[in-house]
Amino acid sequence: MDLTEKLGFKAELNPDTGEITFIGLSPVQPLERHLADLRPVLAEPDEINGHGSQLVHRIYRFIGDTPEIVDTALRFDLTVVMPYPFGRELPKTTGHRHLPLPWASGVSSPDFYQRISGKGIILGQKETVDGRVTAYQIDAEEMNHVLLPPWMGHLVINTGEEPLVFANICVRIEHTDYAPYLNRRGAAFYGLKNGSTGPEFVKNPAYPNAGLENLRPDKIPTLDRFNGAPLYRVLADHHDLLRFLVRPHHFLDWFQRSLKKP
Ligand SMILES: [Fe+2]
Repeated sequence: MDLTEKLGFKAELNPDTGEITFIGLSPVQPLERHLADLRPVLAEPDEINGHGSQLVHRIYRFIGDTPEIVDTALRFDLTVVMPYPFGRELPKTTGHRHLPLPWASGVSSPDFYQRISGKGIILGQKETVDGRVTAYQIDAEEMNHVLLPPWMGHLVINTGEEPLVFANICVRIEHTDYAPYLNRRGAAFYGLKNGSTGPEFVKNPAYPNAGLENLRPDKIPTLDRFNGAPLYRVLADHHDLLRFLVRPHHFLDWFQRSLKKP
């Protein structure tokens, strides 16, 4: 499957294996996650017995790096989530939160997302200081830009029959913390297969009081005119508009409004 138009550089997806071939760019060795890696966050861990070596997702990082992109302190990543469920649970990424950036007054980095191919949702969640957890099902049209606030943990669920490919731009330094998800058997809700309708969300018993809400992406100031453009092109050609990803403490009001109720 040719992804060139959606990615803004030449690339092809093999829908059977989930591998992406980059044409004219330096090859990128993906990180691979297998079912055994996800066991601590699954709704039904026993369902994967004997299948631990099955590929769940691939993460390609630092794609299309140039000296100019290195100077921005940002990187461009692609993740491919394969369409094979874990028993009744839909395939997903592990889930993580972002650590505070050393230069950002205790604020962590946001993520800038775009669904490239396949069907899927982002499952976000936020925990307040008094321990109340709210989960968010975030639906976005293919190619729409999605700005995830710094305080929102997140994972991605493949709800379709094809590999789910999504792009994101984030800070180059390692900033992910998986422990909050690993320590509580995953997110506050699990997405289970539900026939041909959307996923059925079932609460994780480790979060007895959690709620679930729906959100959609809202406009991002200064970037609205580029909404739908390949994220890599925004990074390569207009990185001056992405300062909110590197200096999030100066843009807190943007993150309050980047997602809205449908
Ligand atoms: Fe992230």
